[in-house]
Amino acid sequence: MPAIIPDVSPRGKFITFEGLDGSGKSTQIAKLARGLRARGISVVVTREPGGTTTGEKIREVILHSATAGLSPYAEMALMFASRAQHIHQVILPALAEGQIVLCDRFTDSTEAYQGGGRKLGSKSVLQLHEVLCGNLQPDLTILLDNDVNLTIDRARRRNRQHKTKRPDKDENRFEQESRAFFGRVRNAYLAIADREHQRVHIVDARGTPRETHAVIMELVRKRLRL
Ligand SMILES: Nc1ncnc2c1ncn2[C@@H]1O[C@H](COP(=O)(O)OP(=O)(O)O)[C@@H](O)[C@H]1O
Ligand SMILES: [Mg+2]
Repeated sequence: MPAIIPDVSPRGKFITFEGLDGSGKSTQIAKLARGLRARGISVVVTREPGGTTTGEKIREVILHSATAGLSPYAEMALMFASRAQHIHQVILPALAEGQIVLCDRFTDSTEAYQGGGRKLGSKSVLQLHEVLCGNLQPDLTILLDNDVNLTIDRARRRNRQHKTKRPDKDENRFEQESRAFFGRVRNAYLAIADREHQRVHIVDARGTPRETHAVIMELVRKRLRL
């Protein structure tokens, strides 16, 4: 395999947030970033799909509700194209500088949505991750878990608010999926957490943002020995 991913052990820490749309990832990442920065820790906040200029363009294609007829494999390939660029341009350089990288979604999302939701299976996702992402693993993954229906309702409410504030910004393509689709996504997430219980921590996202933040802060503090 070509040495696109440098073989150095990064000094920083890579923390990813996972969960259904509406589970509270963005809310919790912002709170954790504030908490860590208040302790004088250097933090990079980023997201997928996106995180780079190229990745943000790919994000627009994948998430825009006007994007029609995208094949599941094309969708998966675009997710990985965004990720490969993101790792190269943002994640590895930040880790090499010793920063803490907080990333909103990573390969577990592809395994849950395209692998589970779109039924492409885990194997193809893990194989692509190995080839295109040098099998880069987060030091810690926080999986925000909640009832599927409650989470979808939260996301829909937020999207409606965003629509009135930013009518030019449409990220609602996945919103058109069925409850059964999101049920498969959640099950795939839980299967990943079961398989990789050292890395993936399920956090109950049913509490208030503050309560959930306290649980996450404690987890990160222990895990990163802060
Ligand atoms: N613990 C919570 N309880 C109730 N509402 C929440 C909670 N966390 C986030 N929200 C709200 O739910 C919506 C989705 O949260 P968000 O952080 O955007 O989720 P995600 O990034 O996972 O899609 C937002 O409108 C947010 O303000
Ligand atoms: Mg979000």
